[in-house]
Amino acid sequence: MIVATERSITEQAIDVLRSNRRRTKDGLTYTLPSADSYPYQWLWDSCFHAIALAASEPDVARSEIRALLSRQLPSGLLPHMIYWERVNGVYDIPWGYPETSSITQPPFIAEAVMRVYKATGDQAYLSETYPAILNYFLYLLQDRDPRGNHLIGIINPDESGEDDSPRFDKPLDLPARHTLPENFARRLMLVDHHRNCNFDAPFCTKKVFWVKDVPFNAVMIRNLKVLAEIAGILGENKEMENLLAHSSEIADAMRARMEEEGIWYSTMGESYEKIRVKSWAIFAPMYAGLLSKEEAEFLIENYLNNADEFATPFGVPTVPKSEKSYDPDGFWRGPVWMASNWVLYHAFSDYGYTDEAEKIRTDSLALLEKSGFRERFNPETGEGLGAHQFTWGALVLDMK
Ligand code: GLC
Repeated sequence: MIVATERSITEQAIDVLRSNRRRTKDGLTYTLPSADSYPYQWLWDSCFHAIALAASEPDVARSEIRALLSRQLPSGLLPHMIYWERVNGVYDIPWGYPETSSITQPPFIAEAVMRVYKATGDQAYLSETYPAILNYFLYLLQDRDPRGNHLIGIINPDESGEDDSPRFDKPLDLPARHTLPENFARRLMLVDHHRNCNFDAPFCTKKVFWVKDVPFNAVMIRNLKVLAEIAGILGENKEMENLLAHSSEIADAMRARMEEEGIWYSTMGESYEKIRVKSWAIFAPMYAGLLSKEEAEFLIENYLNNADEFATPFGVPTVPKSEKSYDPDGFWRGPVWMASNWVLYHAFSDYGYTDEAEKIRTDSLALLEKSGFRERFNPETGEGLGAHQFTWGALVLDMK
């Protein structure tokens, strides 16, 4: 039965990716996360699309990344949104750039390119994409860590990809319970502020919002290592060493600044004040291999498998029940999302938690089977919420 179910989910995943595929005027293809709700290109979404398609449709995966790189900003930043075709009134946000946003999203792009290389052996594609990707990581290392403290800062919650996560309530000066419009208004102020700062993130924008986020930095570490591997393949040995050194410096800084009694918290401001809000992000250090076996075990036993925290009928909620902000229907405030599931699947697999990883995979399949390719899912009922024909369910193709 499971086999039949899986086959149809695989087919549906490919179908959603195909029907959301669009072409730019330059003939590149890219994929809308959801044609109805998200009619543009998004950075981490496109990395997910490329990862899901690397093995079966490598040309499409290649193009998805090329489209992203073609709109890199002069600073090296890869914008989190590209408005290939404007849809009136949809995400009409005054970013300060005509065709793109002016902020970024978690840097999964080295992993995405590596997946294409692993599937095809196409070294020319690595050579083609490496300079722009290196430039992006150098931007993050310089402009988002201007004082050389080895943690990468984000200047807007949207840069985490988890727009309304309660990890950002305190830095936004919002209570644990508030409305979506209240949240959006604060984030819009940050957009205005960044534009008024003339996009000077390291010295101007960061005065208002400056968060060292756990998942962003874990993704950075893992992707710096992958980029180092790419540099090695291309014979760029000095850069390879440099990238590896940065990844271990960030790892050390995360441990020094974020850990408290076994939990790693995001920090805010120049004082590195810990934001003591639990979310699925407490497991994210495992994605970068940062925890000892004992530290991982502590989280799995006390949090992952604890019904008062993260153990729910449909898997790992983005925010645990014990938090004041927990809302099983909220936006990054409780529901299960396929992106966090996919990160956790790999994090748990890497640590040898094969049962936990397999459970994430089967829970993900069960949610897609029950509710279709929705944006997010109520962890208690499995009900689908938000956007329809949403692509992230295709990440199950990469849970193996
Ligand atoms: C929402 C999500 C963000 C995603 C975008 C497009 O803004 O919070 O992570 O990239 O939708 O899917």
